[in-house]
Amino acid sequence: MPSVNDIRSTFLNYFDTNGHKVVDSSSLVPRNDPTLMFTNSGMVQFKNCFTGLEKRDYVRATSAQKCVRAGGKHNDLDNVGYTARHHTFFEMLGNFSFGDYFKDDAIRFAWELITGEFAIPKDKLYVTVYHTDDEAFNIWKKVGVPEERIIRIATSDNFWQMGDTGPCGPCTEIFYDHGDHIWGGPPGSPDEDGDRFIEIWNVVFMQNERFADGSMTDLDMQSIDTGMGLERIAALLQGSHDNYDTDLMKALIEASAHATSVDPFGDKNVHHRVIADHLRSTSFLIADGVMPSNEGRGYVLRRIMRRAMRHAHLLGAKDPVMHSLVPELVRQMGDAYPELRQGQAMIEETLRLEETRFKQTLERGLKLLDDELDGLGEGEKLAGAAAFKLYDTFGFPLDLTQDALREKGREVDTDGFDVAMAEQKAKARAAWAGSGETADATVWYDVAEDKGVSEFLGYETEKAEGEIVALVKDGARVQTAKAGDTVQIVVNQTPFYGESGGQVGDMGVIRVDDNVAKVTDTKKVAGVFIHIAEVVSGAINVGEPAVLEVDHTRRSAIRANHSATHLLHEALRVTLGDHVAQRGSLNAPDRLRFDFSHGKALSAAELATVEADVNAFIRQNTPVETRLMTPDDARAIGAQALFGEKYGDEVRVVSMGRADTGKGSDGKTYSLELCGGTHVARTGDIGVCVITGDSASSAGVRRIEALTGQAAIEYMAQAAGRADEVAAVLKAPVGEVVDRVKALSDERKKLEQEVANLRQQIAMSGGASGGAVEAITVNGIAFLAQALDGVSGKDLRGLIDAHKNNLGSGVILLIADDDGKVAVACGVTDDLTQTVSAVDVLKAAVAKVGGKGGGGRADMAQGGGKDFSGAQAAIAAAEAVLKG
Ligand code: ALA
Repeated sequence: MPSVNDIRSTFLNYFDTNGHKVVDSSSLVPRNDPTLMFTNSGMVQFKNCFTGLEKRDYVRATSAQKCVRAGGKHNDLDNVGYTARHHTFFEMLGNFSFGDYFKDDAIRFAWELITGEFAIPKDKLYVTVYHTDDEAFNIWKKVGVPEERIIRIATSDNFWQMGDTGPCGPCTEIFYDHGDHIWGGPPGSPDEDGDRFIEIWNVVFMQNERFADGSMTDLDMQSIDTGMGLERIAALLQGSHDNYDTDLMKALIEASAHATSVDPFGDKNVHHRVIADHLRSTSFLIADGVMPSNEGRGYVLRRIMRRAMRHAHLLGAKDPVMHSLVPELVRQMGDAYPELRQGQAMIEETLRLEETRFKQTLERGLKLLDDELDGLGEGEKLAGAAAFKLYDTFGFPLDLTQDALREKGREVDTDGFDVAMAEQKAKARAAWAGSGETADATVWYDVAEDKGVSEFLGYETEKAEGEIVALVKDGARVQTAKAGDTVQIVVNQTPFYGESGGQVGDMGVIRVDDNVAKVTDTKKVAGVFIHIAEVVSGAINVGEPAVLEVDHTRRSAIRANHSATHLLHEALRVTLGDHVAQRGSLNAPDRLRFDFSHGKALSAAELATVEADVNAFIRQNTPVETRLMTPDDARAIGAQALFGEKYGDEVRVVSMGRADTGKGSDGKTYSLELCGGTHVARTGDIGVCVITGDSASSAGVRRIEALTGQAAIEYMAQAAGRADEVAAVLKAPVGEVVDRVKALSDERKKLEQEVANLRQQIAMSGGASGGAVEAITVNGIAFLAQALDGVSGKDLRGLIDAHKNNLGSGVILLIADDDGKVAVACGVTDDLTQTVSAVDVLKAAVAKVGGKGGGGRADMAQGGGKDFSGAQAAIAAAEAVLKG
């Protein structure tokens, strides 16, 4: 009997042999569609190939695509576990033609594969065609299907479209008859909903495109899109009509039975089925980067996880179960989907965390639910307020409560639930209004309330489609923005990072067809991502689907700087000590800045060690990993968090570097930080890091500035260039410039000293203008006065001392013309200071050269003026003072 893995391979090989490119499954999070919550069919990744918007280097493709149908329009969650064929996760096998083959070959391939490779008996098969599609009808006849087994269907069952808009077309479906022991009628009959006739393949003739206004046009190209549920065909080929009977699903059910010690196929089988299905959807979603949260995709993931956990609880599980089943899932599907194996640790951890947390409230919530049910009358619904309390206080998603009630044949008053939810929102709003938020911010709270918060896709992708949900111009919401307008654009999902945690907002482009808005910054308020943009051509409107593209080069540089900041933080902690804590940071495209607590400047050796460590971990080139956990768990494993920062229920923990150098936080991982920013894939992507500055930012806080990648290389090249220039000027090899500059500097000091000595000698001998002067005797006191040219004011003091030494006893007055200013100094030898004060002499002299004041002590005083021509008068005035 072929296994599920064999059947998948047979399908892909068949189309490979027939000239199709085998294309990997795309992510469960669609990048190219704003309206889809999850990838729900094989054609999603090829959507634009059908319309001709995108060209690839192949025109035939085949894939096994992971799909999730939960949340949004195609929501299978309610029924999963209770029926034979509902899943939240399934694989869709498909073959595709982009303007290459059409109906003829598509039907021929399908028939050959099913009746040839898969050897399904022809007499078990029926086909349907769209009621007007004679062409398909005739092709089926030609391949040998008897006319009475070709059924024309007039309903939308045979007209396929992915969503409200996009490529679409009539289809033909192949049905398998499981036999009359199962109830049900052929397609189109009143009993068609039974389980006897099961659709196994849908072949869509992509020939139309549907637009938002409901209109439809013919596509230029005629293409093929097909979808075969792997679970269905596998069940069939393994002799069952129940998808949960396949080898793969049975292995998961048995793993669940083993973990809970509950018979896999007894009356508790439904719980195992729920667990097996939900294990697949949750694990694959986590592998594709979805994290449990209270919004958007993350909330759908959480709902599925919690639903599974309640069923594990119903199996009597005391400990978390889901995470322990991941190894079996990886064994079954890890070869076909390597991302599962790669993400295994993260998947297990995320499941375990969610399960551990939810366990804390699950039992109390179920108890409350039981109490509520006891009080209900016959046929009465559970009050909306009670369901809301379960939601709000105990973390029970509404569908979990509904699921629990289903077993008891009861329903929830969902209107009442909605009312309770609306009341809570109104209260939250009143709280914002009272919290002093500016009017400016109010508009974002309005948008958040009315449109929900934005979903950030930028950890995984730099390009995505989103629907424009709001436009804000000059603080007010508008419907449209046209060329020249500066506008703030909000979309339901975006790859643009909104400024936070030191990382600057993204720039890039938002396009709606040919209409373009240039995004100059992105901010985040109340969970709403605000793209600050200028419309540069055409006009954009609320409700339109837009393509958002982040400036890749800029974002790459930001990423490198942000990851380098983490390495820098750890290198500083290791080098300087555990007191190093982050006080602030900036991660811009052109530089990074990191502020941290540390009392003094780093020594050159410390800076060199830090820089060398950062670069060693860059070269180690280990993957940068992100995990989600509670802030407490994160701190428990040693993750660095910002002190005093408020964190949500869950935080991202970014880790990088292997500390096998003996350095690091936990002996294994070098850097572990709580961080919501975007990072490089591997540390090697940072390239290189160079520290360009260490300064004081505020008391007890140092600031390191650094560059990475290209900017660092340019910085180093410039530094090397300057060294070369210096070497050229010195005419010395670059390796000797430091010694040479030191020698020059020493030589200069020596020369300066010599110049000073010579100046003194010149001054003592009368300065540049004249010969030596002799002291005269005034009132019995030796008085030496000199007007000097070409002597600097700062040399006067030394000259006075020299004259004092020569005279032994006396009064000296020096007046120097110092570059247009006049410097005056007076000295009195110690033996005379009782008789005459240098200050008095000086003041009298200064007055004559246009100066005021001056001062000092009795033995030495200095002052200044501006009129050197008064020098002789000044000397006379000094003489007069001595005369008394
Ligand atoms: N896209 C088609 C489907 O999902 C084949 O059924």
